[in-house]
Amino acid sequence: MRDAAGDLLAWYDDHARDLPWRVAPAARAAGVRPDPYRVWLSEVMLQQTTVAAVKAYYERFTTLWPDVGALAAAPDDQVMGEWAGLGYYARARNLLKCARVVAGDLGGRFPGTREALVNLPGIGPYTGAAIAAIAFDAPEVVVDGNVERVMARLHDIHTPLPAAKPALVEAAAGLTPVERPGDYAQAVMDLGATVCTPKSPACGICPWMARCAARKAGTQADLPRKTPK
Ligand code: ADE
Repeated sequence: MRDAAGDLLAWYDDHARDLPWRVAPAARAAGVRPDPYRVWLSEVMLQQTTVAAVKAYYERFTTLWPDVGALAAAPDDQVMGEWAGLGYYARARNLLKCARVVAGDLGGRFPGTREALVNLPGIGPYTGAAIAAIAFDAPEVVVDGNVERVMARLHDIHTPLPAAKPALVEAAAGLTPVERPGDYAQAVMDLGATVCTPKSPACGICPWMARCAARKAGTQADLPRKTPK
């Protein structure tokens, strides 16, 4: 029998969202790896912004600046101008700083571990883990709001957020596979975005339906709980 990660990866192979920063399934199967520059750029853009809003900006940035050296050499004003509309402008300033460190000091290569990535400007623990997993297949545990919701439901965790965070991270860590951790990280994100949605989750088509404790208990619509502000 496949384990939980195996079930989710099989679902991802058929249902992954087609996003511009991803390597298409056929290319992945042929051994093509994601470009760390593109993974980094997409993850920084996605930090406080939706997938729908990021797509056009990502396409424009990668057309103008196809690699980290090109971005590092771009005038500040032009980069800030292209970022206009995405918000949280500190991200754009850190983006440029980071590009210049990678291009200037690191020979144009992004480091491949979370520990090294978080030393770069604009890369926090979440983004460092996401880049290490997606670009370098490091077995990092990547936990965003989507993943918290999926874990709270899968394990029927009723402790409210934020107190539940350690339990949710532990749950996520227990599932993260050594094989294909980057695909796995993106698969949980996709599950949370398209199936295990905040309202009216589509449990009937969920690859984890049979394993989901909240579905068994009928509590999925109430989870995750949140401490009132
Ligand atoms: N949100 C943050 N990173 C993402 C990714 N790689 N794919 C989809 N949504 C995301």
